[in-house]
Amino acid sequence: MKQYGLLGEKLSHSYSKIIHSFVFQSLHQEATYSLLECKEEELEKYIEQLKQGYYSGFNVTIPYKKTIMQYLDCIDEKAKAIGSVNTVYVKNGKAYGTNTDYDGFLETLKYYKVDVQNKECYILGTGGASLAVNQALQDLGGICHFVSRTPKKNDISYKELETKNIDVLVNTTPVGMFPNVGVSPVSKEIAEKSGKVIDIIFNPLETQLLKDAHSKINGLYMLVMQALKAEEIWQGQSISIPYEAVVAYIDIK
Ligand code: ATR
Repeated sequence: MKQYGLLGEKLSHSYSKIIHSFVFQSLHQEATYSLLECKEEELEKYIEQLKQGYYSGFNVTIPYKKTIMQYLDCIDEKAKAIGSVNTVYVKNGKAYGTNTDYDGFLETLKYYKVDVQNKECYILGTGGASLAVNQALQDLGGICHFVSRTPKKNDISYKELETKNIDVLVNTTPVGMFPNVGVSPVSKEIAEKSGKVIDIIFNPLETQLLKDAHSKINGLYMLVMQALKAEEIWQGQSISIPYEAVVAYIDIK
């Protein structure tokens, strides 16, 4: 039986096992997906086990999306440009890394019909997820700016954000995420004056930021799509399971 897994530090709140199990069931595949909570020192061992055929693929999450890269034989252009890997697969005994968070966010923009071409896009936060979001926005022609609590180089501060004309605002910070709900990374005024507001948080589905902005664009589509894209890579086939079917199965309230 093929074995897949998620490498990360704290995984008790992860939805990945349930999403991937649903995919295996839908494809009539005999496979398992495990939540592999591990320490950084163990990453190399898991990649060795992948190459030896014990595992068939991994997803990678916080805090290892960057650190995993040093143990891989090949990293595709997309993941290199973003600077992080969330999906690992094996081909001819070599370990490959790619980034399907990028695809998940790109698909989110299409699903919700957010036109970003030549639009002023502001990305809140400068962590791992912000890089995939930035790359997708740029590839669709958006003009991107990072907003940081401690701005470096071309970043702007939250104070400066107040003066900007914001076409698209994307939250990649953990502010508003369970269990610290009811808070937003920006003021209600900024949320209201922004054209399109996207929060990549999916727990809760409606963050304070989305409430303030009267927006429905949360991180659930990105979560599901990054998983389906990883499956397409592992299975070597396109997967046409509808988003709605996955969401109904995982039953996130
Ligand atoms: P990562 O491990 O990738 O940094 P994270 O904890 O989800 O992931 O945080 C993502 C980004 O959100 C952080 O890099 C941070 O960016 P800045 O330091 O540039 O502002 C931002 N962030 C984290 N905690 C935050 C908080 N409490 N308030 C506002 N921004 C925060």
